[in-house]
Amino acid sequence: MPGFRPHIRTNEHGSLTIGGVDAVELAKEFGTPLYVIDEDRIRQRYREFVKAFKSLYQNVEIKYAYKANTNLAVLNILRQEGAGADILSEGELFIAQKVGIEPRDIIFTGNNKTDTELEKAVDAGVIINLDSIHELERLKKVCEEKRKCADISFRVNPAISPETHPHLSTGLRESKFGIPEEDVINAYSLATDPEYFRIQGIHMHIGSQITVSRPYEIAVTKLFDIAGRLKNDLGIDLNFVDIGGGLGIRYQAENEFITPDDLAEAVVPLINKKIEEHGLRPPTIFLEPGRYIVGDSSIMLTRVYTIKRTPYKKFIGTDAGFHILLRPILYGAHHDVIVANKMNQAPEEKVDIAGNVCESGDILAKDRMLPKIEKDDILAFMDTGAYGFIMASQYNSRPRPPEVLVKDGQYDLIRERETFDDLLRKQRVPERLKPAL
Ligand SMILES: Cc1ncc(COP(=O)(O)O)c(C=O)c1O
Repeated sequence: MPGFRPHIRTNEHGSLTIGGVDAVELAKEFGTPLYVIDEDRIRQRYREFVKAFKSLYQNVEIKYAYKANTNLAVLNILRQEGAGADILSEGELFIAQKVGIEPRDIIFTGNNKTDTELEKAVDAGVIINLDSIHELERLKKVCEEKRKCADISFRVNPAISPETHPHLSTGLRESKFGIPEEDVINAYSLATDPEYFRIQGIHMHIGSQITVSRPYEIAVTKLFDIAGRLKNDLGIDLNFVDIGGGLGIRYQAENEFITPDDLAEAVVPLINKKIEEHGLRPPTIFLEPGRYIVGDSSIMLTRVYTIKRTPYKKFIGTDAGFHILLRPILYGAHHDVIVANKMNQAPEEKVDIAGNVCESGDILAKDRMLPKIEKDDILAFMDTGAYGFIMASQYNSRPRPPEVLVKDGQYDLIRERETFDDLLRKQRVPERLKPAL
């Protein structure tokens, strides 16, 4: 099963290795549940992505989507590789600044920015990607008060289906994101006041885990046709066109998928054609991949405690649940599961892997053929680097797990396991409710 994941291997003890490190040993040392991230895999995926686009188009900038994974070690790896940041909250702005990303390399998207977020974005001097005309009006007030000019773009809703899970579609006509195509020219014409706005670009993000290129082709065409109208009707020459993130990864061997090369080969010729057709100054192309860069870099390790057979099912009970890995319950997402200490054993039985959260929906994997499972086996959930730890919670009063970074057979703890005190942190009990001494 690890076959198509070059960074996942088997060692002489029949254990799973990642980044040359024995995952079973990591589980012993740091306990479970545990996230393990492979540094070289992130670098490799980032480089593949950049190369695919840069070999076909001169000016390309990557704004890594922070929402996928904001572990500071991961962000520093990507800063070293040259990535900017696609952010969506004041918290992500704070983090991007801590990581040392230059303001000009940060684009702040988000459909409901608060007043404080707009103020902080103006102060920081990042690109503010506006999601509505109302937001433009609100930003204008902030700029007036601060006597500052903001770099802006608009997010367009290109009204297309990206052929992915409905919760991962962000560019449907009825989606909450972006400005409807028919209103976009009006939005730009309202933003031409040079005292407050420097129009920099245009943006789209049509969804996530997209495995075909057609939706991108349609949306990119629409985006460049709008860029053409902006140039020819309003005299606005855009500095960048941001075609968003969303490239899917292969969660299962049988998954359909496209590579960054496939995507670049599909959209770059269209971009060049549209630049010529509309007489545009070639803009910088921004891309905002998240999942593609970090998704398959990480595994989540969990220990088997209970084995339960009912007349209908065999359940394997683990020390992780949807508070550790939310994607299965949130999207019905599939993560391959490998028994990390039984790499050389053949699948024997069909089981459901049950989480330890007190909710009947907390099944992490259904009907999986695995080797015979025993107590204390270590299960490795594959491809948990994107929207994995970042969506973890303390639900059921379970501290969040640690994260370890592996590289060339070495490892570093990059996030400590939370303690029980962390469960109580920031809470206060009014004096009158405290027990009498
Ligand atoms: C605006 C925006 N850009 C980029 C991304 C990253 O998407 P992905 O992780 O699928 O590449 C997202 C994710 O939802 C997003 O909302």
